[in-house]
Amino acid sequence: MTPRRWAVTEELDHGQTPAPTQGSRIDAYVDRYAARATGMVASEIRALFAVASRPEVVSLAGGMPYVTALPLDMVGELVSELVTRRGPVALQYGSGQGDPHLREQICDVMRLEGIQAAADDVVVTVGSQQALDLITRIFIDPGDVVLAEGPSYVGALGTFSAYQAKVVHIAMDDQGIVPESLAQTIYALETAGAPIKFLYTIPNFQNPAGVTLNIARRQQVLDICQRAGVLIIEDNPYGLLGFDGEPMPALRADNADGVVYLGSFSKTLAPGFRVGWALAPHAIRDKLVLAMESAVLSHSSFTQLAVGQYLATQPWREQIKTFRELYRERRDALLDALESLMPPEVTWTRPGGGFFVWATLPEGLDSKAILPRAVAERVAFVPGTGFFSDGSGARHMRLSYCYPEPDRIREGVRRLAGVIEQEMQLRDTFGTGSVREHSGVDTPGPDLA
Ligand SMILES: Cc1ncc(COP(=O)(O)O)c(C=O)c1O
Repeated sequence: MTPRRWAVTEELDHGQTPAPTQGSRIDAYVDRYAARATGMVASEIRALFAVASRPEVVSLAGGMPYVTALPLDMVGELVSELVTRRGPVALQYGSGQGDPHLREQICDVMRLEGIQAAADDVVVTVGSQQALDLITRIFIDPGDVVLAEGPSYVGALGTFSAYQAKVVHIAMDDQGIVPESLAQTIYALETAGAPIKFLYTIPNFQNPAGVTLNIARRQQVLDICQRAGVLIIEDNPYGLLGFDGEPMPALRADNADGVVYLGSFSKTLAPGFRVGWALAPHAIRDKLVLAMESAVLSHSSFTQLAVGQYLATQPWREQIKTFRELYRERRDALLDALESLMPPEVTWTRPGGGFFVWATLPEGLDSKAILPRAVAERVAFVPGTGFFSDGSGARHMRLSYCYPEPDRIREGVRRLAGVIEQEMQLRDTFGTGSVREHSGVDTPGPDLA
């Protein structure tokens, strides 16, 4: 007699078994979460962004690198050869600090920005996002202060909030962080007895503002932090994606003791490998390795070796050049379109590299309130409130040019300009009714980071 379980398998094979239902949406454990989890809530704008990913919508929201510009056949061959030739190593656990050979290669990459480092001081991480998480984990107790540019990277703000840090924003302008604001803020916090754990900064082609810290200010920021004993976390995923001239020297270049440098292959190769790194003074490095092991035991050997193989056998500097040219063309398309289509009251930054433009709306307009209307007109952006820990930034929006083709960028700006003009007319007719109070970090998903 045929056992019953074969009959069940047959049913499955013919697709006759109903799909399992999703569980109840009521959270039976709502009062059991740790205090740090209360701040972990999906942004209300996530649902809108799900609509924004439809093909008819021009998304100026996403921060996704244009990986289609990679020779994907080459990547396929490289990965297949890796399994054939080095499978037993690539598919095995690795060390908590990361593959030693890759760490040497990472030092070669950092040399392009004036950093002379030893592979022993590098920890390979799951993207630089994990490095941010590990740094925060080893330094932050609830209520500790993190200084960060205002605006700052939404993924970092989410991490700081998850560890219950208090983020204090430092003013920035089109030359990057304002040193006077940094010095004054440190002084005020010290006077109030607030424990500052570190300054988190993105000096090159900042996410979301697109601006770069100028040379003179780099030294000032280093001096201010050194005098105050404030550690600097230098997050630099876009530094090699400058459109003009040589890369800027890293803050870490002349300061091995006061800076933890974070790098990533996500923008210069592909985020799917999830390979980033931290370069840290010895004592911090030791803690990072232990934190890494407690989080994931070890990074994927497979993707580390794949990146190592890519760096060893492929013209990676040429590939970065290809990316730079591609993003430059898209940056130009966005800036040209803004210039010719936006109402004159709208202003924006002019990035010299990276992925992002930061636009400022006229008085009385609120980018978060505008977003649903923009999506209805088939264009999306990220509202400015997502990039501040205190809910400010309502008059700003981040526009990304990394992913859409230039023609789509122009069309997106045309649609967005129409929405903004309509909003201005409403404002002129009814006053500034659409400006709302916002609070907390508006965390969009990874594709929008
Ligand atoms: C400023 C900044 N830091 C860190 C990251 C995280 O990148 P990854 O984890 O892919 O290296 C991003 C991603 O967009 C970013 O913009």
